[in-house]
Amino acid sequence: MPRPQVTVVGAGNVGASVAQRVAEASLADVVLIDIVDGLPQGKALDLAEAAPVVGHDMRVTGTNDFADTAGSDIVVVTSGLARQPGMSRDDLLSKNAGIVRSVVKQAAANSPDAIFIIVTNPLDAMCHVALEASGFSPEKVIGMAGVLDSARFRTFIAQELGVSVSSTHAFVLGGHGDTMVPLPRYSTAGGVPITELMEAGRIEELVTRTRNGGAEIVALLKTGSAYYAPAASVTQMVDSILNDRNMILPCAAYLQGQYGVDGLFVGVPVKLGRAGITQVVEIELADDERAAFDRSTDSVRELVDAMSRMAAG
Ligand SMILES: NC(=O)c1ccc[n+]([C@@H]2O[C@H](COP(=O)([O-])OP(=O)(O)OC[C@H]3O[C@@H](n4cnc5c(N)ncnc54)[C@H](O)[C@@H]3O)[C@@H](O)[C@H]2O)c1
Repeated sequence: MPRPQVTVVGAGNVGASVAQRVAEASLADVVLIDIVDGLPQGKALDLAEAAPVVGHDMRVTGTNDFADTAGSDIVVVTSGLARQPGMSRDDLLSKNAGIVRSVVKQAAANSPDAIFIIVTNPLDAMCHVALEASGFSPEKVIGMAGVLDSARFRTFIAQELGVSVSSTHAFVLGGHGDTMVPLPRYSTAGGVPITELMEAGRIEELVTRTRNGGAEIVALLKTGSAYYAPAASVTQMVDSILNDRNMILPCAAYLQGQYGVDGLFVGVPVKLGRAGITQVVEIELADDERAAFDRSTDSVRELVDAMSRMAAG
C-alpha cells in the first residue's frame, strides 16, 4: 500500500516545521510547495538529508508545481504573509485571501480526495475562502487554531500550578484571535477544573495571556510570528486524520446549525478521523460563555462580510 502523502503549501516557518514534524513522526511522505523558486526544494532536500540520522524513511520533496502534489491525502495551507509587529490579523485579510484562493484551487484540482487543514491568517476567514475555492464538502475543510490556543492555555496552567503539561486539559471555543473563548470550567489539571485550583483573578490573567498568545510572540520575535507550537498543532491534527484516531480537538469547523450558528467557520470541539470532521461536539454554554461565544462569532462574521465586500468592490 502506498504511504499517505501530505502536501504543505508554503515553505516558510510554519510550513517547513510542519514538513519536519510530519516526516520525522513517520506519518506520511511530504511534498513542500512554495511560490519562491528553490525554497521548497532546498528545505525539502535538507529535511531529506536529516532522515538517515533521525531514522525515518519518509520521502520529503520540494516543488513549485502543483502537479507534483497530486493524490495527496491532506493539504496543509500555510502560504501567505505572516503578521508583523503592530499589524492586526485583519490587515492581512485581502492579501492572504487571494493567495489562499489560488493555492486551494490548484491543490484541490490535483488532489480531489484530500482533506484541507488551513493555517493562514486571518484563520476563520481563510477557511471560508478555502471552502469556496475547493468546492469540497465542509467536513473536509478544517482550520487550525484551537489546538494551538488550548496548548497555550495548557502551558500557562501547567506553569502556574507547577504540574506536568500532560496532566492539563484546556477547552477553547470561538474564533481565532482576540475574541477566542477559553472555558475555565472545562479546563482541568489532573481532571480537576482549574476554577477549583486557582483564584478567579489569576485565571482571568491566564485567559488574557492566552488570547494574546500570538501577539506576545510577535512582539518578542519582532520579525515573523510563532511556528513551533503552530506546527506541532497541525501535526496532531494530521495524526488524528491519517490514523483515524477520532481525537476530539478544538478546530475551526463550518457550522450548520450547531451552537445556533449557520454557515460560519468557528472554533468548536470536533472529532477528527479519516473522513475529516466526523462530528461536532456540542456542549451547553452558561450565559456569560454564550455571550462571549456570540461576540466571537460576530467578529468572524464581520471579517467574512468585509471579505465579500472587497471581492464585490
Ligand atoms: N492558525 C494559526 O494559529 C496560525 C499560527 C501561526 C501562523 N499562522 C499563519 O500562517 C501563515 C504562515 O506563517 P509563516 O510564519 O510560515 O510565514 P512565512 O512568511 O515564514 O511563510 C509563508 C510562505 O508562504 C509562501 N507563499 C506566499 N504566497 C504563496 C503562494 N501563492 N503559493 C505558495 N506559497 C506562497 C511564501 O513564499 C513563504 O515562504 C501566516 O498567515 C500566519 O499568520 C497561523
